[in-house]
Amino acid sequence: MASTRTCPASTLLRSAQSSPARLHLLPRSPSKLSAPQSQKRRISAYGYEQAKALAFTDYGEPPSVLSLHSHSISPPHGNLVTLRFLASPINPADINQTQGVYPSKPTFTTSLGTASPIAVAGNEGVAEVIALGDTAKREGWQKGDWCLMKGPGFGTWRTHAAATISDIVKLEERAREGISVVQAGTVSINPCTAYRMLKDFVALEEGQWFIQNGANSGVGRAAIQLGRKWGLKSVNIIRGREDKAKEEALKKELRELGADVVITDAELQGQGIREAAKEWTNGGREKIRLALNCVNGKAATAMAKLLDSGAHFVTYGAMSKQPLTVPASMLIFKNLHFHGFWVSKWAARFPEEKKRTVEDVLDMTRKGEFRDMPVDEIKWEWETKGEDLIGKVKDTLEGYREGKGVFVFGKT
Ligand SMILES: NC(=O)c1ccc[n+]([C@@H]2O[C@H](COP(=O)([O-])OP(=O)(O)OC[C@H]3O[C@@H](n4cnc5c(N)ncnc54)[C@H](OP(=O)(O)O)[C@@H]3O)[C@@H](O)[C@H]2O)c1
Repeated sequence: MASTRTCPASTLLRSAQSSPARLHLLPRSPSKLSAPQSQKRRISAYGYEQAKALAFTDYGEPPSVLSLHSHSISPPHGNLVTLRFLASPINPADINQTQGVYPSKPTFTTSLGTASPIAVAGNEGVAEVIALGDTAKREGWQKGDWCLMKGPGFGTWRTHAAATISDIVKLEERAREGISVVQAGTVSINPCTAYRMLKDFVALEEGQWFIQNGANSGVGRAAIQLGRKWGLKSVNIIRGREDKAKEEALKKELRELGADVVITDAELQGQGIREAAKEWTNGGREKIRLALNCVNGKAATAMAKLLDSGAHFVTYGAMSKQPLTVPASMLIFKNLHFHGFWVSKWAARFPEEKKRTVEDVLDMTRKGEFRDMPVDEIKWEWETKGEDLIGKVKDTLEGYREGKGVFVFGKT
């Protein structure tokens, strides 16, 4: 099996301003360009597929440890399929996993032709089946099928992969109809997380409120839209911007998505927040019974203070890297219930429910009821340089971004 590492880690710290990228600042409606163009495949003698992957040998900061690794994939047999990736997002969890601080570890392997084991980065994505073994065929798979990853740790930042059919979940023809590769490639983590957190911790009735921070994140935007569709009202917290015009524009954007109230973390912690909350909630008669927290620190504690007695507070991320501090009175006198949620664990336990959740979100997307998050499309062609791809990964570490980075695979 041929193998080369085309991009030494030490040279990869440069940001890739020149890399081909497109920024969609506005959420998009269902795309008519859902079908990927047919590809001229790079197959060597004896049917070996040529592949490239952003991979790492040791945990560390992604720009220092990632490199673009070339290898070949032998023709599939049995329950094996060869996948060509179509779109793979860069999520915060992918960064944490590469740093070695994420609970789900990637698979380190020498099967990609290296002397030392390497792991391919990325957890989410959509891929197309381009070749398959007999068992896979008997199990109903065929060329051209689209699939999502069954769990984390598969490694999705790559042009091609060999997978077994137990690694993947088929996106049925009816589910992918009218859906773009970016929509399919980003549906399984963020929208599912928002969906389950709104449904599974407390039975909110129409007209009731939830509050969330990280409201402009992929999860936050999904929660705003799903909440609105289900008749819920939301208080949404964002980080303030130095540029007040940008801050206002972001607030407006989230209100247009369906947010009832959008405030900054400073406003949340400022004077008069309790009076403001009373005004929003009809003099306090409408209760805030659920909080969704991906930030922690003081702003999360301030959010909990606005909750009704007996409400539920769900933590699903740790963007500020601060601990969550809970005054004892919140437990003793307000009887707040604190929970954690991890979509990967939930999906492993309820795979059928996960499939239904994905299909429901795609259905809403198709009907124009659910808009994509803003996306910074990073074109990945066969010739795209490793330093450009890694530069884009580095950009995602900076914060205050206008769109989620998503690798969109072209002629690979
Ligand atoms: N538990 C689960 O199953 C699960 C599933 C999906 C996601 N998550 C977690 O949910 C969070 C959001 O993920 P995502 O993919 O939706 O994010 P995303 O779209 O990539 O957006 C990142 C969000 O984090 C905010 N942020 C960045 N640095 C921050 C900091 N230092 N302090 C406070 N906020 C900061 C950003 O705000 P600015 O615009 O102000 O930078 C933005 O709202 C992450 O923590 C992720 O790990 C958890």
